[in-house]
Amino acid sequence: MLSNEIHTILIFVLLPLCSAAIATIPIKRTTIRFKFDDWQLYNEHVGTFQQPEPFTASIDLSWSDTFVPSVECMKDPTTAQYCRGQKKYDSSLSSTYQPNKTATQIMYEGLSTSGRLSRDVLKIGDLDIRDQQFEEATFWRSMYSNAAPLDSALGLARFQSRTPASNASTKSALRNMLDQKILSRPVFSLRLPRRDNKSGELALGYNSSGTQAQNAVTVPLIEATPPEDLSQLSYYISSGYIVRLDSVTIQSFPGNIRKHSTYRAVFTNSFSYISLPATLLAEIQTHLHPNLGMGDQLADLDCLMRDELPNIVFSFSKDAVIVLTPWNYLTEVQDIDKGKRCVLPFAYLPQAEEEWVVLGSAFMEGVHGVFDLEKGEVSLLRLDD
Ligand SMILES: *[C@@H]1O[C@H](CO)[C@@H](O)[C@H](O)[C@H]1NC(C)=O
Ligand SMILES: *[C@@H]1O[C@H](CO)[C@@H](O)[C@H](O)[C@H]1NC(C)=O
Ligand SMILES: *[C@@H]1O[C@H](CO)[C@@H](O)[C@H](O)[C@H]1NC(C)=O
Ligand SMILES: *[C@@H]1O[C@H](CO)[C@@H](O)[C@H](O)[C@H]1NC(C)=O
Repeated sequence: MLSNEIHTILIFVLLPLCSAAIATIPIKRTTIRFKFDDWQLYNEHVGTFQQPEPFTASIDLSWSDTFVPSVECMKDPTTAQYCRGQKKYDSSLSSTYQPNKTATQIMYEGLSTSGRLSRDVLKIGDLDIRDQQFEEATFWRSMYSNAAPLDSALGLARFQSRTPASNASTKSALRNMLDQKILSRPVFSLRLPRRDNKSGELALGYNSSGTQAQNAVTVPLIEATPPEDLSQLSYYISSGYIVRLDSVTIQSFPGNIRKHSTYRAVFTNSFSYISLPATLLAEIQTHLHPNLGMGDQLADLDCLMRDELPNIVFSFSKDAVIVLTPWNYLTEVQDIDKGKRCVLPFAYLPQAEEEWVVLGSAFMEGVHGVFDLEKGEVSLLRLDD
């Protein structure tokens, strides 16, 4: 069984304009499960929404394109059954709607949509993003057994991300906020919830890490050109949150992991796990627990193992070290059959140079991250267990 988490917030398209320079938005986590035997996708999301009804959007560091179901998705009986349960956008109710009509298609987290580009005001918290281009999805299919737990995605990509999953090529909501100088500072901070139905926080325009920040480590963002291919790794790299990473080691096994070597690491919450180069993955995996082999990548474990497993040390530089405990890096999920389980987060994404580490949700859920796009740096503060 493979599970995946999405981190969602509420957004509006269509509300009257007002202006603000910062916003604090609660984030909710939903674990979705792909069961390969019958290709069903389960979700346990339940939510109630205030009026007027906002869209539930998955916040995504790697993603660019905004999309929402259009009221027109109800016209076609094949797609009506899938979009019935979603919030829908009705351009006829909007005085700020601008048509574009370019045909697009998008695949995202179990959703397959197509439609046309439109522009309108996108509202997040008290922030209004003018002229946000988005796909108004007139066709909407999903792999969920009932309503999808998301209506939309809110892209936090720093650069235009490149993915074969979309041909819309629109600016991310974050990019628009920066270009329109809506935020009081070009900064956002992200604390992702570590369990379903715990709350996290996206702070736009300021740094919400607060008083504990003296323990934070700061790492410069570096530039990197993604490989030409359209692999999953290139997609994450293209969104632009890349740093140097000197080493990844197991804390309680001194000297057993290879000497100093430099990797490049990319932050994303689009990928649920931590991907390491093959040799490093094999070392970590075999040292982590004697009874776990390579066949146990993404193994579903008893959560009691959190008391036994060692800490993992991520050294970005000599002075910038993040130590994750098993309480940080093991992903807790509700297994449909077995109840509460913990997932070992190491996975492998194919790569040519064997130098890339992908710090997905398993890492991001363990830290409070402040992304300062003016200074070009990321501050990380490990969250307490
Ligand atoms: C639609 O949007 C695309 C991408 O922004 C732009 O190139 C094109 O000129 C627009 N077309 C219309 C009719 O506005
Ligand atoms: C996106 O793909 C669809 C389906 O192939 C096509 O109809 C549409 O014209 C494409 N749009 C762009 C902007 O390339
Ligand atoms: C939170 O999730 C747990 C298990 O996933 C569930 O037992 C509990 O009822 C949920 N709490 C709320 C407030 O939804
Ligand atoms: C975040 O705020 C704290 C305290 O206000 C400060 O010490 C820290 O340097 C800030 N981090 C960033 C990346 O701006």
